[in-house]
Amino acid sequence: DWSGQRFPSAGRRLPFIGDLLNIDPRQPILSMQRGATGLGPIFELQVFRQKIVLVGDVAMAAELCDETRFCKALPPAIEALRDYAGDGLFTAHNDEPNWQLAHELLMPAFTKSAMQSYHPIMVETASELFDYWRDRLTDGPVDVSRDMTKLTMETLSRSAFSHDFGSFGTEEPHPFVPAMVGALEGGRRKGGFRSAPGGRLLAKVVDRRFAHHQAYVDQMLDDLISARGDSESQHDLLGIMLNVAHPETGEKLSPLNIRYQILTFLVAGHETTSGALSFALYYLARNPECLAKAAAEADEILGDDPDAMPAFEQVSKFRYIRRVLDESLRIWPTVPGFGRSPRETTTFAGKYTMRPQDFAVVALGLVHKDPAVWENPDEFDPDRFLAANVKKRPAHSYKPFGAGARACIGRQFAIHEAVLVLASLVHRFDITGDPDYELAVDERLTMLPRGFELTLRTRSAQM
Ligand code: HEM
Repeated sequence: DWSGQRFPSAGRRLPFIGDLLNIDPRQPILSMQRGATGLGPIFELQVFRQKIVLVGDVAMAAELCDETRFCKALPPAIEALRDYAGDGLFTAHNDEPNWQLAHELLMPAFTKSAMQSYHPIMVETASELFDYWRDRLTDGPVDVSRDMTKLTMETLSRSAFSHDFGSFGTEEPHPFVPAMVGALEGGRRKGGFRSAPGGRLLAKVVDRRFAHHQAYVDQMLDDLISARGDSESQHDLLGIMLNVAHPETGEKLSPLNIRYQILTFLVAGHETTSGALSFALYYLARNPECLAKAAAEADEILGDDPDAMPAFEQVSKFRYIRRVLDESLRIWPTVPGFGRSPRETTTFAGKYTMRPQDFAVVALGLVHKDPAVWENPDEFDPDRFLAANVKKRPAHSYKPFGAGARACIGRQFAIHEAVLVLASLVHRFDITGDPDYELAVDERLTMLPRGFELTLRTRSAQM
């Protein structure tokens, strides 16, 4: 019963950002962030009968990230995804047994040695993208978000499910991508309506409108699983899910839960990284000095051959490029926030009573720009992430991958892939953005630049 929430419940009123009428449905997060200007570090948003509390400064975010007192919460928009992703890792409630089981079974798929096994797949997929671009160099600029989404989708599905979507064979994204985005968009809208008057009826309308997307996604998941036949292989994430039993309890994931997990990984694992890569390229194209530094670093490590791709051990050596990625995720956290609830009734920020059924959303777009911690927060400056500067900042100033036990399981995967791709891309190509392009952002489940294009030239001539 979401409408039962009354946080804060100490009789204190929070600054009120407004209700849905003030929020642009195409850009809910950005318009909310704009509306928050001047309201202070904590404020409320009214979504029909539901009040959502948002937190926008580092001190309060740090308190919410304290795992001894707080834990993950599922705000309505995420709760709504349970229609599709059930008790999969991302959407499971903390106390659901399948979270613990899946977490323990799947952690080995995200260790350093697992990353080593994904590395050749990441290299091969990035090389395919570069070849795809090279064959089209005279066709004009490339759509960055579209192509980064192809790349990250392929990398994820090949690494996790040994499935090739054939994304580089066609201009358009694989039909699974719009179907999945459509199905999840349906879920998100239903989530918004849940507390609305007549919400059930509206949810039915949404269900009907998005049903064909859901049918496509279901078929796709069935195909992925049945392609395994009786194989007992444990070589990828799907193999682990199908064939590995918990070493102590002997428990395995149920077929339904495996479907939830596949969908979860397909969604959580690609658009997020695609956005991070696209924003990083946007900033590189806009900042010639940063681009020159990134290219110099790539050249120094990869040598004279412009087609060289990094070895596994080289990826962590691209320190500057890693800082570019970190700084891009600071300004544009592609997962824009996460929910937190207290484990027991507690006093939050010294004055607000918060009960376990209450939650607050850590609004990363605001926390990552808190002027008390980040100087000139709108400026792109990768050197904020030099170790000496990181040390000076309070803990939890930067949380693009979430907090605590429910933080991102794919963090290393995403960072390894993104750094590898950025380094080999600037090593191989000169990139130029349209100087008149003004950053526009698409909000789907995550955030991506819209209409951002790059003109590419091979660098072989100059090296
Ligand atoms: C959880 C961000 C890439 C899989 C999360 C959370 C954040 C996040 C903020 C926590 C959400 C919450 O507390 O509600 C990101 C970003 C990425 C990225 C910014 C890329 C730049 C990936 C990749 C994978 C992945 C590549 C898979 C290979 C997951 C899963 C969870 C998760 C399964 C749920 C973990 C749990 O609750 O046990 N991610 N993620 N993510 N992420 Fe990522």
